[in-house]
Amino acid sequence: MAKQMKVTDDHSIRVGPNTQLIRAGYSPFDYHGFINPPTVRASTVLFPDARTMETHGQKYTYGTRGTPTTDALCEAINELEGAAGTIILPSGLAAVTVTFLAYLSAGDHALVVDTVYGNVRHFCDSMLTRFGIEVEYYDPSLGAAIETLFKSNTKLVHTEAPGSNTFEMQDIPAIAAVAHRHGAVVTMDNTWATPINFRPLDFGVDVSIQASTKYPAGHADILMGTASANAKHWHPLQQAHGELGICGAADDAYQVLRGLRTMGVRLERHQASALAIAEWLESRDDVARVLHPALPSFPGHHIWKRDFNGASGVFSFVLAVSRGQNFRAKAQAFLDGLSLFGLGYSWGGFQSLALQVGLDERRILRAPDDGPVIRLQIGLEDVADLKTDLVRGFDAAREIF
Ligand SMILES: Cc1ncc(COP(=O)(O)O)c(C=O)c1O
Repeated sequence: MAKQMKVTDDHSIRVGPNTQLIRAGYSPFDYHGFINPPTVRASTVLFPDARTMETHGQKYTYGTRGTPTTDALCEAINELEGAAGTIILPSGLAAVTVTFLAYLSAGDHALVVDTVYGNVRHFCDSMLTRFGIEVEYYDPSLGAAIETLFKSNTKLVHTEAPGSNTFEMQDIPAIAAVAHRHGAVVTMDNTWATPINFRPLDFGVDVSIQASTKYPAGHADILMGTASANAKHWHPLQQAHGELGICGAADDAYQVLRGLRTMGVRLERHQASALAIAEWLESRDDVARVLHPALPSFPGHHIWKRDFNGASGVFSFVLAVSRGQNFRAKAQAFLDGLSLFGLGYSWGGFQSLALQVGLDERRILRAPDDGPVIRLQIGLEDVADLKTDLVRGFDAAREIF
């Protein structure tokens, strides 16, 4: 039988994102026609003879350096990101920290957006600082004006758009152009959009990072991250991955690849439900402001519209409070009034989640002073039920004076 070709390998055939998600990374006829790849668990890989062992003269050599299962995921992500190479890590956080370690050395200066995912800030303020790397946080609204912050030793600019918890957009092409003039590598946490809604490498980013824990895995049961580099920046990333030995497990890689096949339809549902709820929240007196880049009222909306293909299902709102009311008590009453929304971290899974956002660690942007910020992850439930649940929360919050 003729071997079936990967559609995405034939560049004369253009396919849409959902078709790409179905095909990416694995050709069933590479493994007897089974439509999913085998889960190859490995530390030891055997060599046929001493000479092959000495020269590492075969594709697989040891489990930390990849297996056919982890390679299938890496190849799928390469196709989706348009990347030269992808490494997989045991969490989204590790995908950011290993990337920083790949490009930064003692004496370097790094610019990190102030709306960065909180645990990355902790890594910067503890370990990077201890290693003699100076980290400076910058305002996400800086586009080309970020140039004033560059020093002769600025080696890395980290972006995340929309930003964690408050969803500020960034002018990625403008920032990348400045960074490249100064010889700095540009990294981006693109977990919110996924490469379906934004392809960072097409906009000047050098390394695109995703917490696959969220939408790619999609079921709140897997931790994994990916970092995907363009050709110029691939080697240091691959080398750091090998040297640190922080690798992803084959079982988890299998689950993430499985999740990718349905990610497009799940994202469409997350996007539609979240937007419907965001618009509804905007019309309510219980809400001071809704922080969602796809809303025309949101300050960074024009950038989202210019660069992104769509939105996902996580956004925040500022709960309205009257003068003198206790933000925390009001927020906790709202959260405790919910029953369908779970109180839990993370997002991208099937169930809706809510939490009060902590913004005290920010250096540039201050927490809103008009009310507590509540983040919602909109899952796959029926929108009408979620609205009813949110009304329960607002009713409970109204009881607090
Ligand atoms: C934007 C963003 N990046 C990275 C991460 C880290 O992912 P993980 O939970 O897999 O470490 C998170 C987790 O919430 C996140 O929100």
